[in-house]
Amino acid sequence: MAQLWGGRFTKETDQLVYNFNASIGFDQKFFHQDVRGSIAHVTMLAAVGILTEDEKTEIIDGLNGIVKDVDEGRLEITGEYEDIHSFVEANLIDQIGEPGKKLHTGRSRNDQVALDMKLYIRDEIKAVQELLLDLIKVLHRLMKENIHTYMPGFTHLQKAQPITFAHHMGAYMEMFKRDYSRLTDIYHRMNLCPIGSGALAGTTYPLDRELTAKLLDFDGPTLNSMDSVADRDYLIELLSACSTIMMHLSRFSEEIIIWNSNEYQFVELDDAYSTGSSIMPQKKNPDIAELVRGKTGRVYGALTSLLTTMKGIPLAYNKDMQEDKELTFDAIDTVKGCLALFTGMIDTMTLRKDRMEESAKHGFTNATDAADYLVGHGVAFRDAHGIVGQLVLYCIEKNISLDDMTLEEYQKISPVFKEDIYEAISMKTCVEKRDTIGAPGPEAMEEVIAINEAYLNDLV
Ligand code: ARG
Repeated sequence: MAQLWGGRFTKETDQLVYNFNASIGFDQKFFHQDVRGSIAHVTMLAAVGILTEDEKTEIIDGLNGIVKDVDEGRLEITGEYEDIHSFVEANLIDQIGEPGKKLHTGRSRNDQVALDMKLYIRDEIKAVQELLLDLIKVLHRLMKENIHTYMPGFTHLQKAQPITFAHHMGAYMEMFKRDYSRLTDIYHRMNLCPIGSGALAGTTYPLDRELTAKLLDFDGPTLNSMDSVADRDYLIELLSACSTIMMHLSRFSEEIIIWNSNEYQFVELDDAYSTGSSIMPQKKNPDIAELVRGKTGRVYGALTSLLTTMKGIPLAYNKDMQEDKELTFDAIDTVKGCLALFTGMIDTMTLRKDRMEESAKHGFTNATDAADYLVGHGVAFRDAHGIVGQLVLYCIEKNISLDDMTLEEYQKISPVFKEDIYEAISMKTCVEKRDTIGAPGPEAMEEVIAINEAYLNDLV
């Protein structure tokens, strides 16, 4: 047991208590960020004259040495230390002696852990954004390639109106663009530096908090030392953004599962992204999509968990807040894994364009257009709706589609129909006439794709 605070105690900590209390098992995840924060802190301490230049150099060299030793396997982070902060400080003192004992001047583990977590989360936000960007790029390609790939659009999971595969991908494109910008918002809002807040009430040292903030690329120092050590809002926002990403991935997964089913066959998942059955030799299962859908639950769980943990905590720091780490790490790792796998899965899947178009032709997805045709010839929409309803009923009885009816059959139900009805309800017309921005028509689609192209160029 290596503890930083033995002085006022006369007894050893009970081993079970020690284990229950320790965080080294998980906070070693931000070992590099902890050292980065310490280097900035020490640099600031020297700048304001609390440490000499020599002490600063010795401490920084010592810290860099510890990083090297850990990264190269000469030093192991073990359960012998209570937390990552203790590990670093104890090893620093071991290696450089006296100056190492000055590292923690003007600092508490409360503001230190708040800093480490923010540094870690900033890196992770960027990593999640990179993965979102990979997905957005695949969607962009699928959109560009499928402006004329017709498929049925659904409401209530019933065929509704024809759309294109580009249009369908475009819907997810918008969701993931929003997810990306949500993360940018969170980054900016959280980007204030808590170090220098001490345990809760600041410190008596003449710290230059502006300088430490600058050294660590923050926009400035936090403005209330109690809030600094007790704020976990940015984690709640992040977990909420992660939950929304997972909700989007889960809805998309559900569609992929349906499209990949034997009944639909709109897409075929690549062998590399499918799994088999131990008993049924014919099976090729969409396990990745199902797992992504399933893992959504644990990310929602993390959000609920942290909200619940935080709800009764009085100011300022309380140990309850240590619980933020494992669930946040797990949620972020889950989101990153799901994004990477999902992107690979849709990047490699084969589109069965013939099946999509065939499906769009059946199920009366052009019925609205037949009604619009009548409206174009002077029939009131409500009457047109009734007439096309009769056409649909007739087709269902004969097991044909609207396109298969003869002109005589049309005219028996309404004399307004002329030869040009076939063109008016063709799949091509149905899609191409829907050409206002946001609709599936090819010109509208090209416009949106150009906007997305500019969006992507702006990001990189
Ligand atoms: N391990 C703690 C946490 O994750 C940080 C250390 C603060 N501990 C303390 N006893 N004040 O929140």
